[in-house]
Amino acid sequence: MRRVTLTQYLIEQQREHQRIPVNLRLQIEVVARAVKAISVNVGKGAIAGVLGEAGTDNVQGEAQKQLDVVANEILLLSNEWGGHLAAMASEEMPLPYAIPNRYPKGEYLLLFDPLDGSSNIDVNISVGTIFSVLRCPEGAEADERAFLQPGTQQVAAGYALYGPQTLLVLTVGDGVVGFTLDREFGTWVLTNPDMRIPEDTREYAINASNARFWDPAIRRYIGELVAGKEGPRGKDFNMRWVASMVADVHRLLTRGGIFMYPRDKRDPSKPGRLRLMYEANPMSMIVEQAGGAASTGYQRILDVQPEQLHQRIPVVLGSRNEVERVAQYYAEA
Ligand code: F6P
Repeated sequence: MRRVTLTQYLIEQQREHQRIPVNLRLQIEVVARAVKAISVNVGKGAIAGVLGEAGTDNVQGEAQKQLDVVANEILLLSNEWGGHLAAMASEEMPLPYAIPNRYPKGEYLLLFDPLDGSSNIDVNISVGTIFSVLRCPEGAEADERAFLQPGTQQVAAGYALYGPQTLLVLTVGDGVVGFTLDREFGTWVLTNPDMRIPEDTREYAINASNARFWDPAIRRYIGELVAGKEGPRGKDFNMRWVASMVADVHRLLTRGGIFMYPRDKRDPSKPGRLRLMYEANPMSMIVEQAGGAASTGYQRILDVQPEQLHQRIPVVLGSRNEVERVAQYYAEA
């Protein structure tokens, strides 16, 4: 059997289809190497002494887990010397990370959530890494302002899922492809050359414990799904919630569905739970590239002009017809 590796896939994208420049290819390969190292640490867990709290808070005031810190360090150290980046930004750091002067600087900006789904780390449930690549505007300082570009400007986005298998799902703006880590060989093998999200679904994902804080549009939509066959939708729906966005989104890419972390009234300073720049934007690019849709309820996520590196945003994404229905309910409300 001919195995197509990540390197081979990227070289073909670069050489035969002229879809990505060589520096972007090399940059993606560096990220893919880093997530292999994260996967090893996640896999070892208590043996490597990486479970439990780190004893520090991140910029959002959330307690960091040891693995959050380890994964962040791995991504910084793997990416700082390659010469392709102007700067990096991470969920775990308040400010962008400038490339040290001893290394050459490049044309790209890398953003990441080093370990998404932190509440699942210590209970051995799937977690992931999400990343987004932007171009650094020409002549710009690689500071926070350089990062504040809408998601439509992303040149690549992807995630790694550390589950029973370690997977890498990637888009360079030409569909979505999935690789499985061959742990013995240490190589990424192309296992899904064309990931597509069906337009319709019978499965939804939402943290229903927040129901009392939801907007009327979301209450109406979820109410109709819960009513099932007897309700206006005339069919039964099933609910799934892993509480790791990467795992929940991967399910959509595998068999369809709708994932929601909508706006809620719990804390007016937080218009949503998820972060725009390194969670919502890369996932929205992937979902759209797979034929799905991604919205705040009011607006396409990829069109949102970011105002802050760590800003939060409501997220509704997945099967196109369901996301459009939610947007319609928002418009009607
Ligand atoms: O980083 C945010 C995150 O961990 C997502 O991966 C996940 O979808 C969500 O939070 C889970 O939120 P909750 O704890 O409200 O279920």
